[in-house]
Parts: sequence; structure tokens; C-alpha cells
Amino acid sequence: MNDNIKVMISAEELDKKVSELAKQINEDYKGKTVSLLCVLKGGVVFTVDLAKKLDLDIEIDFMDISSYGDGTESTGVIKINLDLEQPITGKHVLLVEDIIDSGRTLSRVKKHLLGQRPASFKICTLLDKPDRRVVNDAKPDYTGFVIPDEFVIGYGLDYAQKYRNLPYIGVLQPSEE
Ligand code: IMP
Ligand code: MG
Repeated sequence: MNDNIKVMISAEELDKKVSELAKQINEDYKGKTVSLLCVLKGGVVFTVDLAKKLDLDIEIDFMDISSYGDGTESTGVIKINLDLEQPITGKHVLLVEDIIDSGRTLSRVKKHLLGQRPASFKICTLLDKPDRRVVNDAKPDYTGFVIPDEFVIGYGLDYAQKYRNLPYIGVLQPSEE
């Protein structure tokens, strides 16, 4: 991992923001049980850190979704690789995402989940790239950071499955050769 990476959001800033989001979620869901739905794989680090700061009864479930596309652009046609273990009917669902880019994947996932009639449905995303938005019908209720249109890595986010373990959010710099 000797690649040239520019830090965009430090580990300290991430920790502070996750605490702020957790505080808001604790207030909003007071007295309720929340079902955190982690979207794999990118959402896993954020979900775990957020869960540790929640002072609520929570359940955690996982979904793994891929979207068909040419590799760089999602098409919105999603494939569910791993579906939820437990039904969400009647539950207070909080979908936890790493990043909203075009919004296509989230839009499809939201439709799929609302079909199960949860008691409530909200979206919490760590990062939002609004400049890239194509589909706007799945707006986040909680947003960590709004970022410019740059490809970011770390804190769960990958480039070709690499860098998910970085404790910060960074941008890969072109190598100087
Ligand atoms: P979209 O909103 O359907 O375009 O796809 C969003 C998904 O693409 C996210 O959940 C990420 O898995 C991935 N993605 C989008 N932007 C980035 C990025 O900057 N770095 C890493 N993964 C990204
Ligand atoms: Mg994702």
C-alpha cells in the first residue's frame, strides 16, 4: 500500500461526524427498536462505527447488491447477491450506505424494501456526491459529508476491492513516473 493517496476526510473528522449522526439518530428513534440495514460491502465500516454509538435497541441485517453496468456507471438494474435474513415488515428501518453517487442503486433498493411495508424507512449515508445524481427519488435523511465529484476510497470504500481498511477517506493520486 505505497500508493499516493490524498486525505480528504481524516479519521478524527469521521469519528466526530459519526458521533453527531448517532446523536441525532438517538434523539429521532428514542424508545424505538431500529433495524440497521447495512449495504455491503462499502457500508460495513460505517455501520459498525455508527452502531457502537447508538444508545438504542438495534438489529443489524445485511444486503449485498451489485448493479449491472459497464464498470464505471451503474445502470440501475440491480442484482441482489445477498438478501435480508429477517423480514422488515413493521420495523423501523434505517438503511446505512457508504456513498450516494448516481442514486440509481439506492432508488431500486428503496422500492424493493418498501414492498415489504416497514413501519418507517430512512436512509443514512456517510458521503453524498450530489453533482453525480441522475435519479433523485431516494434522498438521504442523514448525511455525513457532501463531497465533490472525485472517486474516493477508504473507510469501507474500495477501488477494485482494495483500500477498504484505510481509517480515513482519501483520493488516489496519479502515480508520478
Ligand atoms: P450509484 O448511486 O447507483 O451510482 O452507485 C453507488 C455505489 O457505487 C456506492 O454504493 C459505491 O459502492 C459505489 N461508488 C460510487 N462512488 C464511489 C467512490 O467514489 N468510491 C468508491 N465507490 C463508489
Ligand atoms: Mg455501496
